[in-house]
Amino acid sequence: MSATSPAAVVVLAAGEGTRMKSKTPKVLHEISGRSLVGHVVAAARELEPQHLVVVVGHASEQVTAHLNAGDAPVRTAFQAEQNGTGHAVRMGLEELGGSVDGTVIVVCGDTPLLSGGTLGALAATHAADANAVTVLTAEVPDSTGYGRIVRDPATGAVTEIVEHKDATDEQRAIREINSGVFAFDGSLLADALGKVRTDNSQGEEYLTDVLSILREAGHRVGASVAGDHREILGINNRLQLAEARRLLNERLLERAMLAGVTIVDPASTLIDATVTYERDALVHPGTQLLGSTHLGEDSEVGPNSRIEDTLVGPGARIDNTVTLSAEIGPGATVGPYAYLRPGTRLGVRSKAGTYVEMKNATIGEGTKVPHLSYVGDATIGDHTNIGAASVFVNYDGVAKHHTTIGSHCRTGSDNMFVAPVTVGDGVYTAAGSVITKDVPSGSLAVARGQQRNIEGWVARKRPGSAAAQAAQASSQGADGES
Ligand code: UD1
Ligand code: CA
Repeated sequence: MSATSPAAVVVLAAGEGTRMKSKTPKVLHEISGRSLVGHVVAAARELEPQHLVVVVGHASEQVTAHLNAGDAPVRTAFQAEQNGTGHAVRMGLEELGGSVDGTVIVVCGDTPLLSGGTLGALAATHAADANAVTVLTAEVPDSTGYGRIVRDPATGAVTEIVEHKDATDEQRAIREINSGVFAFDGSLLADALGKVRTDNSQGEEYLTDVLSILREAGHRVGASVAGDHREILGINNRLQLAEARRLLNERLLERAMLAGVTIVDPASTLIDATVTYERDALVHPGTQLLGSTHLGEDSEVGPNSRIEDTLVGPGARIDNTVTLSAEIGPGATVGPYAYLRPGTRLGVRSKAGTYVEMKNATIGEGTKVPHLSYVGDATIGDHTNIGAASVFVNYDGVAKHHTTIGSHCRTGSDNMFVAPVTVGDGVYTAAGSVITKDVPSGSLAVARGQQRNIEGWVARKRPGSAAAQAAQASSQGADGES
């Protein structure tokens, strides 16, 4: 907790968000790797408040479960009926004992672009000006739907906030709007909330009325204009959801580029808020960097790749590939056209090549699986080469089994390793082998039918065919002119 930490942050997330036209509650829609409310909670946490409470109501079980998933559960307050933003804050304060000493920040759960920095600046202005309430406002190009900030024409002081639905035409022309973010003196807030009435077009308790109630009681009321109006974008429909994703993605890519990551084509690159990276990582067009992905120094990923929850080691190269919960060792190469599923661990300078799928597989240093193979439930040692078109046959229809292959092996093309099976170190296997028995170190394993050539079969059984003619021409050629 820092010196300017607020006593509490209350996040409003009880509304249904009907305009989303969705069975998912609005605040659980995702952009850039987090739910809308998840972004707001992350920004709020940057303030290190003593208390953080999210007011839930619509689909409260689902929203609460979401907030409790992960390793930092969030306290919730229940608003049984959505009687307005003022009522929602009252429910939040009740969860905290009815009133809180010190600054209370209120934010809406549907403003995912709001940064911790902006919240902190609002709290600082609020404290420096010794206000009873400070509202974060913004000048927006289109103020439709927002509450308008009404100022005294003589002094410029904020007098009230009027909701769009309750505004006169003159007030609707105002472009300065309420972002829905406030800093309050906690005890004055609790008092004023008790005085909020419901005589408005929606019959709701408006949080915005607290501002004029406090002003009329002679308290200091302030407004802080956001530097960038895009930060307070509230999501009410899917158009705004897409717009917010675009803006947030741009901001996250900017941060990555300023930290030394080359993004070849920002317009076609997606990055989640949770992704981390080191400098000189390079991202080609059409790439999605998702979840807990980390890009090591000098790594190079894309084009056209989905890299999810993946640790990409320094200097590793991933091309046209999908990776999920995988670890790519330093200098390893993946793709083009590989699919690395959960539990894949590629060692230093190893390779998962073209049309290779891996799952729950540990691949040793310098080991290569270059072409057209499936490696599932396997451990492979160091400096081994797996021949093209090999399959680790891990499933017998009932259970999954493990295959172990040693170091410095050279397995032939088109091998089936029927698990459970263990292949020692320095083993060779013949092409086309179906390996069902363990192979001792240093052996050559051959497990396939013997080849038999039945000479003259085509001439006897397919006389006159193109094949027979070709065979005859070739035998005459071999005998010389006749
Ligand atoms: C609200 C503000 C408006 C502001 C806008 C900014 C009020 C009366 N209006 O309008 O001035 O310009 O936000 O985006 O405050 N919620 C609850 N319980 C309720 C009602 C709402 O938890 O009973 C939550 C919603 O889940 C949402 C937030 O409060 O996260 C805002 O509600 P919403 O209905 O979107 O308010 P707006 O009409 O956008
Ligand atoms: Ca809203």
